[in-house]
Amino acid sequence: MKALIVSDIHALSMDIRESAGGYSGGQGSDFYIENRHPSRNPIISIVDCLKDKDLNIDALVCLGDLAHQAKKLPLITVWSDLHFVAEELGIPHVISVTGNHDIDSRADNIRAAENRLEYLSQIKPEFPSSNQEFNDHYYRNGVSALEIGDCLLIALDTCRLHGLGTDRADEIFSVGHLTDGMISAVLDIIAQTNLNHILIAMHHHPQKIDEITDPTYDQIPSGPVFLERLANCGKQCVVLHGHKHLGALKRFVTGQNPPYILSASSLAALPYRRLERFHTNQFHILDFHTHEQGSPSGVVYSWEWGEVAWQVSGRDAMPHTRRFGVEPDVGQVARDLLSLNAVGFRSLEDLTQTAVGVEYLSVKQMDEVNCLMVGGNRKLVGERGQVIGMLIQGDGS
Ligand SMILES: [Fe+2]
Repeated sequence: MKALIVSDIHALSMDIRESAGGYSGGQGSDFYIENRHPSRNPIISIVDCLKDKDLNIDALVCLGDLAHQAKKLPLITVWSDLHFVAEELGIPHVISVTGNHDIDSRADNIRAAENRLEYLSQIKPEFPSSNQEFNDHYYRNGVSALEIGDCLLIALDTCRLHGLGTDRADEIFSVGHLTDGMISAVLDIIAQTNLNHILIAMHHHPQKIDEITDPTYDQIPSGPVFLERLANCGKQCVVLHGHKHLGALKRFVTGQNPPYILSASSLAALPYRRLERFHTNQFHILDFHTHEQGSPSGVVYSWEWGEVAWQVSGRDAMPHTRRFGVEPDVGQVARDLLSLNAVGFRSLEDLTQTAVGVEYLSVKQMDEVNCLMVGGNRKLVGERGQVIGMLIQGDGS
């Protein structure tokens, strides 16, 4: 099952910017919906990037924050443009979840409150999917599911509490939430399906991305409990989320079969302050291997924005190719590779015969293995974030 994943677009409108009352605070992004040429429109440009590739993508999944500051015109334009991308690329499903920038979390009059409640459910194409039953469940419970091939996609609305409350409203609209009822509903759906592969889509993050690059501790309070229940549900789960604007792929640490968690990069937002060096605008394709049993496994492919067009990602955090499904033992991989002794270039195919999990090494792990092999006259060689072989020099001993 393949999903094209976009998140945190934060599109703006020049007309709104120039009108009285327009935007407040930071700019959000420099993507204006009035820009219709692909070189200045990162949504439309996805078509140019992927149209010549025979990818057979099953679904376009948007993880929220389509527009910046809940402006309705950019939101509806982005939603329409995502459908254009899907149509051009032959993608049969377009599904989104709500981001905190897609609803007015701070409505202070009756008209704004009405929009908060009804706007998304009234737009065309229908949001968050074209499936009426899916949408009914989404708006009623904040949880809905759709079978896509041999995978079950479950969408969660982590912004349902936004706009509620008074005394602690600032906390409510800044933190995503999963109620106990929503978590139970997800587990009930999973228990009832015959499908073994579960893809969860949500805007907010169920666990902190990284101790260094994610300095704000604003994960969903019940996130770890949710992930642990997924880990013990007997299925293979991958969780997709946005909100942090930081691309990362991690595996949860506890439970029988922990889910992988893909933190999607922002498609077009400007960097957060102090996170500039980690920032890049990306979209991803998740190839979830539904033919594999055991650990959830597959490949995440990423592209990054290069000023006027999409290009394959060269970022270490989310390089162009990132396999998942095996957590390699770095020390063991280094020891196994040191046992090889024929001089010259050894292909990845060769290496996998000797070192279990070598093809799953991240860029950081590749560096760690190379450090452990210092003095062994050999070095792993990577391309686009993936090991492609190893060079053995001298007598190889
Ligand atoms: Fe965002």
